[in-house]
Amino acid sequence: MKILVATQKPFDPAAIPQIEEIGKNAGFEVEVFEKYAEQQELVDKVKDAHALIIRSDKVTKEVIDAAPELKIVVRAGAGYDNVDLDAATAKDVVVMNTPGQNSNAVAELALGMMVFMARGQFNGKPGTELSGKTLGIHAYGNVGRLVAKIAKGFGMQVCAFDPFLEKEKIEADGVKALGSEEELYGSCQYISLHIPSNANTKKSIGKDLLGKMPENAVLVNTARKEVINEDELLEVMETRQDFKYVSDIAPDCKDTFAGKYEGRYFFTPKKMGAQTKEANVNAGVAAANQIVNYLKKGDTTFKVN
Ligand code: 3PG
Repeated sequence: MKILVATQKPFDPAAIPQIEEIGKNAGFEVEVFEKYAEQQELVDKVKDAHALIIRSDKVTKEVIDAAPELKIVVRAGAGYDNVDLDAATAKDVVVMNTPGQNSNAVAELALGMMVFMARGQFNGKPGTELSGKTLGIHAYGNVGRLVAKIAKGFGMQVCAFDPFLEKEKIEADGVKALGSEEELYGSCQYISLHIPSNANTKKSIGKDLLGKMPENAVLVNTARKEVINEDELLEVMETRQDFKYVSDIAPDCKDTFAGKYEGRYFFTPKKMGAQTKEANVNAGVAAANQIVNYLKKGDTTFKVN
């Protein structure tokens, strides 16, 4: 049986030998297919794969249909909005993610982005400090929890809103749990987004929430660009000179930002929240172990479909 590691954005080189070892020790063939350029190359490559490890690669219906042997897809990471779950389920293909494995990398980037914006993007002029400022964490999952921990080290006043978590679980970490999105955005100068991208959240962050943020607002998006209502974000950028937006991956409307809102935005050229050696090793190893455990023992921990 073959495990195909298909990643357009390659893993850190340290991850691959560990993935290969886990697969080979369990008696599987492991093929690494990194840095492919066209979606068609993935479609062609999956035809004899029994298991697939991916990152942000798009596992569409076309990919699933082209892989008659496929039994499991593991997204080495948290967000699985890049996998067509219905198409996978229709073909009895199990889909999993590896929650928590790359969270620290994303949390460190979120705080790094806050420092970068507070210090005027390191432009040599006086900036501000994070200490004493309010931070609202939108969704208190694996990443949100780590952002809270690091932000408290900076001396920030940390609040969170998560509709799927009891307030007590948030407050046990010394974080103030708020009752609604409106309350969170209305009371925090910094907002760090950690909601997934799905049918309920797409374009859900717009002027109603952003317009409520206090003076010198900074929106930090290490989640997904799709959760932002970009037309409304542009309206807020236009009407509020004090509003800043920093995002791990550029929005579709990035050309409108260019040259217009200098110093008030920053976008990474490629999604790089989870781009650390540690995160790649953790997520890659977890993905390989999950595949072996599923194929050998039927273990469906972290199944998402
Ligand atoms: C995730 O959902 O885990 C992150 O967005 C990481 O994505 P990546 O594997 O493409 O870096």
